[in-house]
Amino acid sequence: MKKALVCGAGGFIGGHLVNRLKSEGYWVRGVDIKENEYDNNNSDEFVIGDLRDPLVASKVVTADLDEIYQLAADMGGAGFVFTGTNDAAIMHNSVLCNLNILEAAKDKGVRRIFYSSSACMYPEYNQMDPNNPKCSEESAYPAAPDSEYGWEKLFSERLFLAYQKNHGIEARIARFHNIFGPQGTWDGGREKAPAAVCRKVAMAEDGGSIEIWGDGQQTRSFLIVDECVDGIRRLMNSDFSGPVNLGSEEMISLNDFAKMVIDISGKNLTINNIPGPLGVRGRNSDNHLIQEKLGWAPSTPLRKGVEKTYDWITEQVQKKVLVPVEA
Ligand code: NAD
Ligand code: GDD
Repeated sequence: MKKALVCGAGGFIGGHLVNRLKSEGYWVRGVDIKENEYDNNNSDEFVIGDLRDPLVASKVVTADLDEIYQLAADMGGAGFVFTGTNDAAIMHNSVLCNLNILEAAKDKGVRRIFYSSSACMYPEYNQMDPNNPKCSEESAYPAAPDSEYGWEKLFSERLFLAYQKNHGIEARIARFHNIFGPQGTWDGGREKAPAAVCRKVAMAEDGGSIEIWGDGQQTRSFLIVDECVDGIRRLMNSDFSGPVNLGSEEMISLNDFAKMVIDISGKNLTINNIPGPLGVRGRNSDNHLIQEKLGWAPSTPLRKGVEKTYDWITEQVQKKVLVPVEA
């Protein structure tokens, strides 16, 4: 039986990944600073621990592990990473997790490690035209990410590759492009656009309006979490290190995305574009390399993923509204 460690198992993608590994027959240890809020605690062993502490990393990384999946990071959507107010914490916290996990893996002789990078590491200068963004893997340099979150991801990609070069670690690196789905953060300030828009639509009165940050012409692509987890497993089982994009190529403007969610809801709502943290003007995954190296690329239509996410968020909103407030 293969043994895996999932760092960030209390989070969105980590929780789904634990379920996937269990369904494949793995023994799984999860680690996170918090429990998984949405019943995804299906690891065989779940350790509550802070990976900024090297002693915690050295405790959870044991010599009997076949694989490590490093997804623990201080992360969020535009309202968290693009305001500037969390920059020092994001860089400090995430880089310490990466350093400690790699050092422990080197010491314990665990070879294969997956690292979750982000499309936020691509240069801003290639993402100014909403209709024609460039995010092919080789366009990463000269580097000019638009956020400190993106700079940390770029540095950490290089860190994993340096451990591969000097310490025999087999790194597998994917650059995620806006992953969404059930069990993802949907309120509280760290939620990304797909969940935020589903929440706003679910909470709106029929005949009312929802707020969308910016002019709504900015573009993104959104990937359903099931395909993200599938891509992680395919990359891990391949002999290709990456970095490689893991995202959808179905680019859409934010206003068109909001219209899609409104249509799914069956409500009659108008869109009110307001100022907010924006990030890059346009972004889309480029899947040529993943198709070439893995013979596979994500293919689920956006609307299919949004339908099930909207249903799940509607349930969460109803649960929250129905919970009686203590006097
Ligand atoms: P998430 O916030 O749901 O999960 C990250 C988990 O890491 C959280 O549960 C958090 O508690 C944990 N964590 C943070 N600091 C920790 C620490 N010091 N010790 C232990 N655990 C700690 O986010 P997610 O969407 O599941 O993202 C997973 C990974 O994928 C992250 O590295 C993120 O940067 C990357 N990523 C995600 C997206 C996306 O769209 N979701 C896009 C690009 C990259
Ligand atoms: N979060 C959010 N909430 N974004 C909104 C909203 C809202 O209510 N309304 C409009 N937007 C717009 C943002 O202004 C931004 O232009 C766009 O929707 C996408 O926002 P996010 O989904 O929050 O983030 P992102 O795509 O810019 O970046 C995310 O994806 C990266 C990977 O592709 C972040 O989660 C990054 O941390 C991640 O690495």
